[in-house]
Amino acid sequence: MSATLTATRTTTAKPWRLSGRARKLTLVLHLASVGSWLGLDVAMAVLVFTAMGTDDPGTKSLSFQALELVTIWPMTISGLACLVTGVLLAYGSKYGLTKYWWVVVKLGLNLLLSTLVLIALRPGVEEMAHQARQPGAVLNATDLIFPPIVSPTLLIVAVVLSVFKPWGRLRRKS
Ligand code: HEM
Repeated sequence: MSATLTATRTTTAKPWRLSGRARKLTLVLHLASVGSWLGLDVAMAVLVFTAMGTDDPGTKSLSFQALELVTIWPMTISGLACLVTGVLLAYGSKYGLTKYWWVVVKLGLNLLLSTLVLIALRPGVEEMAHQARQPGAVLNATDLIFPPIVSPTLLIVAVVLSVFKPWGRLRRKS
């Protein structure tokens, strides 16, 4: 009898949860990372579209050099901070990491965007900044038109998913 009770106790251990205060703090950090990530996307858009729209070589060159500073590492850090705090919020709450579609899709978007910054955006931005430092270089910004459109759009999709939490569970409650 007592052996049965012990077995029951060990198999129904409570899942780990963030305490109320820790959860609020993590949510604040999560929202701060989302805010900074979106802000960096806006800065990227301003710099890319300024570079595309101006005929002034000095402005073009400065825009590309500033783009290198604003994008790669600040964006990578914001993306990672968002990922870590998001995973903590999910894992430490009733939502879990793989229970709800909206969480899984956000996880996929976060991983996709953070990876794209390093493997797709970084080489182009570094190349443009390098060219912009050479006197008399002819610079063309059209190669960089997609990141400032795709990244904020997907981040807004993630914000909408966070607020509306659509599509329910991946599988039935066990
Ligand atoms: C892709 C970038 C992300 C953005 C833009 C984003 C955005 C947000 C926003 C705006 C909230 C606040 C929602 C509210 O309080 O109504 C939130 C909360 C949350 N996020 Fe994220 N998030 C992202 C990534 C992630 C990731 C990767 C995960 C986990 C795998 C995650 C899990 C959560 C959880 C569990 C909450 C708390 C929801 C609640 O308590 O209502 N997020 N997110």
